[in-house]
Amino acid sequence: MRFDVFTIFPSMFSGFLNESILKRAQQQGLIEIALHNIRDWATDKHRTVDDTPYGGGPGMVMMAPPIVRAVESVLGEELATTPIVLLSPSGELFTQDVARELARYRRLALICGRYEGIDDRVRIVLAARELSIGDYVLTGGELAAAVVIDVVSRLVPGVIDPESLAEESHSSGLLEYPQYTRPPVFRGLGVPEILLSGNHAKIAEWRRMMALCRTKARRPDLLARAPLTERDRALLERCPPDPFAHLGPVYDETEGEPRATD
Ligand code: ADE
Repeated sequence: MRFDVFTIFPSMFSGFLNESILKRAQQQGLIEIALHNIRDWATDKHRTVDDTPYGGGPGMVMMAPPIVRAVESVLGEELATTPIVLLSPSGELFTQDVARELARYRRLALICGRYEGIDDRVRIVLAARELSIGDYVLTGGELAAAVVIDVVSRLVPGVIDPESLAEESHSSGLLEYPQYTRPPVFRGLGVPEILLSGNHAKIAEWRRMMALCRTKARRPDLLARAPLTERDRALLERCPPDPFAHLGPVYDETEGEPRATD
């Protein structure tokens, strides 16, 4: 999948995109990220990309012509078949469902806003979809575009082990169950005994229950939309009083129980 990012700060992306999983995905040719400086499509000698808002008010607005020229010239014949996303706090919410939808395309264009926003005619002329990554205001769309690239890239076949994708938060419409690894006791806190039992059916049931209970406690909005079976409803009846409290045994460290190194 190819991402074309339109920004006035291309260097903001270098550290983030060139490490870890996204670095490997690019090296393997699974994803490609092309950064385009919108100023390269300005026409005056100061390379101006913003101006004062019509109607008055504070700040500056990003001008339509340089952005539209940039996107049209980079996408060329693929303009009509490539989804164009405009990052802005006024957009529809970017969710895992939206990410799955975008991951079906072979190319995605992302336009990063700055200042007080982008001339609304950009959205109209490019038939762009305006997306927000959450109900807060960033200093610009660059971080939001990096978030979209990260989330969509994970869904590109080959980037992440499919088994990890299936189990994680949001893939089933629920939050994830709690995870543990060595040491077996840390600061007096043990691991829920069921996870040490080797009984895979019981472990799967406990994990499903915890995913359901945690979602109910923290994100009832997600639980209301999640597809639940009769079994799920029965598991919800067995939720611990506080599913975010520690769930394993607690050892009194003064009574000679094994003390973990930390
Ligand atoms: N630009 C500024 N804030 C933003 C947000 N929350 N999401 C997307 N783009 C933004």
